[in-house]
Amino acid sequence: MTTTGPGATNPVHGDMDQCRPVRLPRLAFGGDYNPEQWSPTVWREDVELMRKAGVNLVSVGIFAWSALQPAPDSFEFGWLDQVLDLLHAGGIAVDLGTATANPPPWLLAAHPEVRPVTSYGIRLAAGSRQTFCPSSPVFAEHARRLVGELARRYSDHPALAFWHLSNEYGDHVSSCYCEASTEHFRRFLQHRHGSIEVLNERWGTTHWGQIYRDFAEIDAPRQMPGPANPAQIADFRRFSTQAIIELVELEKAELAAAGPDIPVTTNFMGMCPELDYWALADRLDLITDDSYPDPLDPRAAVRAASSYDLMRSLGGGAPWLLLEQAPSGVSWREVNPAKAPGVQRLWSYQAIARGSDGAMFFQWRAPAVGSELHHSTMLPAAGTDTRIYREICQVGAELSAIGEIAGSRVCSDVAILMDWDVLWALDPDTAGERTMPSALLRWRTLLDPLYQAVFERGFVSDYVRMSTSADQLARYPVLVVPNAYLLSDDTAAGWAQYVSGGGQLLVGPFSGIVDRWHHRYAGGAPGPLREWLGVTSEEPWPLAADEQLTIRFADDDSVATVRIWAEWLTPTGPDTQVLATFVDGPLAGRPAVTRRRVGDGFAWYSSVIEPEGGPIVQRVAAAAGLRATDPGQLETVTRRQSAGPVGNGIADTETFFTFLLNHSGESVVAPAPAGVDLLTGNDTVDAVLLPAYGVAVVRHPARCRPAPAGTDRPSSTR
Ligand code: GLA
Repeated sequence: MTTTGPGATNPVHGDMDQCRPVRLPRLAFGGDYNPEQWSPTVWREDVELMRKAGVNLVSVGIFAWSALQPAPDSFEFGWLDQVLDLLHAGGIAVDLGTATANPPPWLLAAHPEVRPVTSYGIRLAAGSRQTFCPSSPVFAEHARRLVGELARRYSDHPALAFWHLSNEYGDHVSSCYCEASTEHFRRFLQHRHGSIEVLNERWGTTHWGQIYRDFAEIDAPRQMPGPANPAQIADFRRFSTQAIIELVELEKAELAAAGPDIPVTTNFMGMCPELDYWALADRLDLITDDSYPDPLDPRAAVRAASSYDLMRSLGGGAPWLLLEQAPSGVSWREVNPAKAPGVQRLWSYQAIARGSDGAMFFQWRAPAVGSELHHSTMLPAAGTDTRIYREICQVGAELSAIGEIAGSRVCSDVAILMDWDVLWALDPDTAGERTMPSALLRWRTLLDPLYQAVFERGFVSDYVRMSTSADQLARYPVLVVPNAYLLSDDTAAGWAQYVSGGGQLLVGPFSGIVDRWHHRYAGGAPGPLREWLGVTSEEPWPLAADEQLTIRFADDDSVATVRIWAEWLTPTGPDTQVLATFVDGPLAGRPAVTRRRVGDGFAWYSSVIEPEGGPIVQRVAAAAGLRATDPGQLETVTRRQSAGPVGNGIADTETFFTFLLNHSGESVVAPAPAGVDLLTGNDTVDAVLLPAYGVAVVRHPARCRPAPAGTDRPSSTR
């Protein structure tokens, strides 16, 4: 075994300057463990069976507040002491929850104001979880006390790998609209805008007679008679992330006071629309994610890949950790299908391929009670002689044998913008009150077809922020901006510099509309991008839900169908190339997709959502010299280990690990680099036969992929 529990360390996150090294087992394997639901006899059996399954890390105590502090002035740590000692003796490291994910009933009974309030003014009841208002001073004070006690007691415990703040911040409750939150929102606004005059100007409160005299007059955007001011909504959503960040900082301060060197994480939820994960990630030492793709979704693998690329990007490319996934079915969808044999293993490897240093699950043992009774578990209710436990043991054994992968970096080809201010502007989430040209034009509606087009050509994407500089972007031959409805002049200038330097920038529809204060750019869309994109978008042309238009590409006369959105586009100069034109409807003959040379690169503008098959991405990638493949259901991703011990005679050189993942229920012959399949020990020459849902992990010395033809631009992969 190359993974040996708490002793073996994996110093990930070299790129996250502020971060502490993470004391992970090499490749982590395990899951949520809730021993407070069981007796000590069961704990001993658990540790035994965990060892058998290859478990080397468990997440403990996440929902244990009421068990740890049964009354205001009494703490019960004895059971947790025993559990941590047992786990450590078994060679199993611990991701220790700060237990603040749900306050105890005694606190909610004594202080009902801790319970969160919805935008309709309903105070939510106790009896579930996450029953707290992020702005409640009472909650904060009690959380501080608990976390301080935990930190002082366990910071030196040898089983402790890292701290786990709360649980899935923003799950169930991402914003609270109570009085305490409203007060907090007002303080946030005061800090953000400085004076009420500035706020009035930025919010445009002359519209609909909303001029404020004092911050005290401003409410949280609870349900109103009509649409709320979009600037107010935008500020409230940013505030809601800030309220969570303040809880993160509060807990971190307690933890650091007792043990400054213990890394901290909180588990993310993929591309969560509620909270700005860039802002939260900056406060964490390790990025972790919970991922529950729907086995019935034919695009499950693509959507999961997108989340994993985001997780990796949130940590600046450093390894992250898949902290939760279901061993088989979940229990919170309308219908909760099981994962077919092999799918859990395949999806575990998919996360690892895209940078996770391990695969963890929710949860270890099947509960006997409670609302997650029917969720699958690593150790099913039917015991060890079960398909699920056998598949768990297989993956556990495999991961313990391929620990050399830990710490390696994913090779990527393309950058995609991810921005929560834009997402919030497009998806205002205001219960039916509309202010945008089309409620169908949402962030994921724009992003997903682009991501899929990149994925289906065998390219790997990193996500980048609005603030990513032109120099940092220069490592990517392609930058995809699904949408930049909201945009600053500085970002626009950075992108222009990126293109001049030789980049291919694809800007999606309805971009460059407003500045960061939601003020419309003068002169029409796409605002500060207009001049160098060489187009003016005169008018949005939203399509009805069942409407479609055809566009024709000039280069090969091919056609594509577009839905949801179009624009009345006018080229603004003779050097704007019209690449595709509307064929039918009122826009017939008008441009749909354009590009313009800017310095050494091209600036592309698409007034439509990427059509099925990704014809626009295809052209952009070709212009960048990226070589597309046609992988079908085969996903291929490479991780690169720069230096260090890699074993088997290859040392001190760059070593590559290419993951071949067969997402189909049929066997496939997968092109493979010459090397060794770490899962079988077999040499590979140029292909591997993968059974249905099969996986290979090929170690090879050669670079990820051949240098792109027709360009000398170094990509991030090399
Ligand atoms: C989330 C939570 C877990 C559990 C799982 C079930 O990810 O973090 O506590 O409820 O969902 O799928």
